[in-house]
Amino acid sequence: MYICPLCRQPLQLTDAQLQCASRHSFDLAKEGYVNLLPVQHKNSKDPGDNKQMIVARRAFLQSGAYQPLSDAINTVLAAADPSSILDSGCGEGYYSGRLQQALTPATAMYGIDISKAAVKYAARQYPAIQFAVASAYQLPFADNSFDWVLRVYAPSDSTELQRVVKPQGRLLSVNPGPNHLIEMKQAVYPEVKLHNDAVKEQPGFSHVKRQRLCYTLPIAEPAQLDNLLQMVPLAWKFNSENRQAFVSATRSISIDFLLDVYQLSS
Ligand SMILES: C[S@@+](CC[C@H](N)C(=O)[O-])C[C@H]1O[C@@H](n2cnc3c(N)ncnc32)[C@H](O)[C@@H]1O
Ligand SMILES: [Zn+2]
Repeated sequence: MYICPLCRQPLQLTDAQLQCASRHSFDLAKEGYVNLLPVQHKNSKDPGDNKQMIVARRAFLQSGAYQPLSDAINTVLAAADPSSILDSGCGEGYYSGRLQQALTPATAMYGIDISKAAVKYAARQYPAIQFAVASAYQLPFADNSFDWVLRVYAPSDSTELQRVVKPQGRLLSVNPGPNHLIEMKQAVYPEVKLHNDAVKEQPGFSHVKRQRLCYTLPIAEPAQLDNLLQMVPLAWKFNSENRQAFVSATRSISIDFLLDVYQLSS
């Protein structure tokens, strides 16, 4: 399934390496993932989310705070019963990990992320999933590889998505809804601009359906809010004063997700 990120020929597994016909080779890490992000494709030394963000995300997600979203993803994908899924921008693997548990072992699950720290955490925790460090802008997979791509809050390239999904293949895209984390916005902006909820166009795909998932998340302890603050870009808008005030005053927070299914146009 993997292709060489340098010459795009298929990669074969030999010993603990993946190798192409031109002898480009990529080691399997001891955690079981493979790094398919060549230095020349990196736009910084350590691209993607850093270790501190990954640790915070893992703790926040393990608290069950976004489990309703994970369950909703699992419901959509279990009904489809796909033979192959790619979690693109998989982070530390929470959604693919729970999804793999919900599906039959016949489903081949792959996850990529540009962050090596994220992939290392994912591979260690979820050994039944094939994880790779790779860019969503140059996916290291052959054409027509996947029945479904899952994309939760992650960047992507529409040409690459069209290339790696099979004919009639589908994309499940999760994005914030209008009221997502609105209390956090109210703490930093004098006037809050809501997220746009217009269905985003996905070139090469047609929109099939949308599900909106809203709930109020009770904040069990300030550490949970701290973790959330470390994993969202909005955190940069806080200074130590309003961050402290926000953490001590907030008892619950609004969660609002939009799940959109698209199908590759024929
Ligand atoms: C907001 S996080 C979401 C992670 C995961 N889907 C989740 O919801 O827990 C966005 C992820 O996209 C990754 N990312 C950023 N740019 C990327 C790229 N060009 N290719 C692949 N992943 C990328 C980051 O490293 C990060 O893990
Ligand atoms: Zn090669």
